[in-house]
Amino acid sequence: MTSLPEPPRASIPLGAPPPGCPAHASGPGGVQRLYGPAASADPMGLYERLRTEHGPVAPVLLEGDVPAWLVLGYQEILEVTRNPRRFRRDGRAWSPWQRGEIGTDSPIAPVLAWGPDCSHQDGSVHQRLRGAVNESLERFDRRGLRRYVQLYGHQLIDRFAPEGRAEILGQYAQQLPMLVLTVVLGLPEEEGPRLVEASRQLLIGTEKAVAADRYIQRTLTELVATKHATPGHDLASWLIAHPADLSDEEVLHHLRLVMVAANETTTNLIVNTLRVVFTHPRFRGSLHGGRMTLPAAVEQVLWDEPPISVCPGGFASDDVELGGQNIRKGDILLLGLAGANADPAIRPAPGAPMHGNRSHLSFTSGPHECPGQDIGRAITVTGIEVLLSRLPDLRLTVEPDELTWSSSTWSRHLVALPAEFTPRARAERIALVPPAPGRRQAPGRQRPRPPAEPARTERPARPERRSFWAGLRRRWGRSDQPADAERPGRREG
Ligand code: HEM
Repeated sequence: MTSLPEPPRASIPLGAPPPGCPAHASGPGGVQRLYGPAASADPMGLYERLRTEHGPVAPVLLEGDVPAWLVLGYQEILEVTRNPRRFRRDGRAWSPWQRGEIGTDSPIAPVLAWGPDCSHQDGSVHQRLRGAVNESLERFDRRGLRRYVQLYGHQLIDRFAPEGRAEILGQYAQQLPMLVLTVVLGLPEEEGPRLVEASRQLLIGTEKAVAADRYIQRTLTELVATKHATPGHDLASWLIAHPADLSDEEVLHHLRLVMVAANETTTNLIVNTLRVVFTHPRFRGSLHGGRMTLPAAVEQVLWDEPPISVCPGGFASDDVELGGQNIRKGDILLLGLAGANADPAIRPAPGAPMHGNRSHLSFTSGPHECPGQDIGRAITVTGIEVLLSRLPDLRLTVEPDELTWSSSTWSRHLVALPAEFTPRARAERIALVPPAPGRRQAPGRQRPRPPAEPARTERPARPERRSFWAGLRRRWGRSDQPADAERPGRREG
């Protein structure tokens, strides 16, 4: 068994490559760095090499050469995520943090340092906060959100449709999720583009991450103040009104968590699915021929190219053995989701067809499993449907092997997806069918209703959803373009 090196008294783990070997990009103690150009060049190759050298749990180094364990085994990830007592989420238990080795300006601090949101909590505190997030997210009618995806999807396509070419990542896949998220969060849609960039920087973990985090927190602080004064039909207002009685700081940090967790991930899923559709003729053929549905194709991409490759998994609450490694109390465990989805113990071969099977770990598992996965899937599937139905002959303008990738410790994404198509006119009118009434109500809770629009009483038992839709119906009744004054969450003034 090996143990994590604690610089400067690190010992070289058994089986580690000779220090200085360029192919292995080793740091102190010959331990593999999970960051830097060598690690970014071929992350999947790196995970496989680590699996061969160390088994399902491998010692690695984070930015600043901070030691960590990378869990690459499918079963071992389940063991970590489903045993919150042994692997706690509270980062204040992390040994380098306790020793003062991680500054607040460290690029890994925004992702790993403790915060008051539910992703850093355990037990009853987690249940209280996570319950408020779950129940507030459940109040969004999925069909309602899909209408927004269609609306914004068409608007984005209108901007480039007459050109006959577009950079689909920057002009579509990066913009669409954040536009939908401004509706979810209750922000004005014009905040979308700035927040796209800020949340990307935060997740990539560059030196810009700290400034980006400050910008996001400032924007969301203003949002919380606005929603106290003028509540709407959005996550911010529903978290404020939830019986779990979240403080303003807790509301702010959960809005931040949702924004950061939802945006880059959904962008990655859209663009990764589109890339596969463009570059694998058989994939596109299966979709056209009806042998594979788009949701099944998205699931296959979730297996093969998870939007988050690695995510924080917890801190050992005691010395423990995992995957043949000796984990010490206070060590950090990272969930190697991309590696675990390709674990030979559960997958016959890398890239093997999974036929709609949803048991991948791209949303992890256990009490912290992603609560927004259905929303992420809905934005992805509907966004791609809108794009391919408006531009059916959309195709790449470069050879597949000319596409380039950018990787960080946490995720890998395309740098651009340049495409061309037959130029089209702007959409005449987006056909928006009035939705069915009845916003979902979270089960088992007597929740104060957010202040509703003046009641129209033909269905008094389900007033919330009617009011959610009222703005849309008014807008669609008049125009294709959202009238800002009617958009849920618009700031006054
Ligand atoms: C395809 C898109 C998405 C992917 C791949 C994804 C993936 C993930 C992953 C891997 C986690 C970490 C779970 C853990 O710590 O064990 C997570 C957490 C989370 N996600 Fe998602 N996510 C997506 C979309 C969304 C959306 C759309 C929302 C909200 C609208 C959302 C909200 C959250 C929240 C609140 C958490 C923290 C949960 C907790 O710690 O209890 N995610 N997500």
